[in-house]
Amino acid sequence: MTAVPIADISAFVGEKNNERERKEAAKQLADAVKVNGCAGITGHGLPEADLGEAFSTMRKLFGLPLDDKMKAPHPDGPRPHRGYLATAKEKSGKLGAVWSTSKSEKEFFAKAIDWKETYDIGHEDNRDQPNVWLPDDILPGFRPQMVKLYDQLTAVAEAILEGLMLGMDLTEDECKTLRQMHSPIEHQIRLAHYLPMNYDDLNDPNKIRLASHRDFSSYTLLFQESESGLEFQNRANGEYLPASPREGVMYLNIGELMERFSNGKPKGLYPSAMHRVAIRPTKDGEKTVPGRFSLPFFTKIKPAEPIYPLPSRVEADGKANYEPVGFQDLAKKLFSTLLPTDSPKE
Ligand SMILES: [Fe+2]
Repeated sequence: MTAVPIADISAFVGEKNNERERKEAAKQLADAVKVNGCAGITGHGLPEADLGEAFSTMRKLFGLPLDDKMKAPHPDGPRPHRGYLATAKEKSGKLGAVWSTSKSEKEFFAKAIDWKETYDIGHEDNRDQPNVWLPDDILPGFRPQMVKLYDQLTAVAEAILEGLMLGMDLTEDECKTLRQMHSPIEHQIRLAHYLPMNYDDLNDPNKIRLASHRDFSSYTLLFQESESGLEFQNRANGEYLPASPREGVMYLNIGELMERFSNGKPKGLYPSAMHRVAIRPTKDGEKTVPGRFSLPFFTKIKPAEPIYPLPSRVEADGKANYEPVGFQDLAKKLFSTLLPTDSPKE
């Protein structure tokens, strides 16, 4: 496989309920995702105009003076995971090191600095992790625009969940359980700006865009503006496949949670995708690699829920590949490595 496969989920969007079309679409989605845990998704239903406006707002947001952006500061520590985090504050290399297999890679990631700034947003009714907003006069209309976008992305995520569940051939009870676990309150929008890289940056071995990692999500939806960089690992040979921006295509990658629900490894359905954001080489005549804007939507589950391989998947595979684990325990283990603190707030 040399490219990320594409799947059309329009059979799950809106009021359509054609069983034959849904089964075909679910098979296409499962066939795509089971290879490397990722797919390009068409027919997702998010209007291009709304996406364009979101990227336009991101340009304004990250173009603000630092003092203004710091009026919505991300707190120290992993939770609440909300608000603005300045350049070089997040250390994705520490997360990358968790999955590194070689000593040299671990050493590299230990020193790596993320050349990116981010702004995280959740549901307005999430009491555990309240949003951190800029004062409205700094970026008028930002809050209602993001609240609307959150709802639109939740609808896309619910369509994806229906497709993934049908592709797993679950019982109706198992589907009900997964639907109620994936509460709309728990998800997270991340606005990410990868800064332009000039010659000096490119020669700095410690500056990276985003280290190789697996997401601590159930599954992640990702939109990116014109500049590429996202890459998914091909499990067959360890090389990385580019996931270039294409009009109308959203990328989907499986995270840690859905991998476990689906009994996803070593050979089962829905393995989580190893992925990274690489710095592309400069093209002829270019003095810098341009900045990059991306918009991932991480789907999460209620924090009190246990994570375990679903019985139908265990029966199909002949054994459970994972022990049950609490969401909070898994979250603490992973997120305590990522942000610049040794004491998670939960
Ligand atoms: Fe990721």
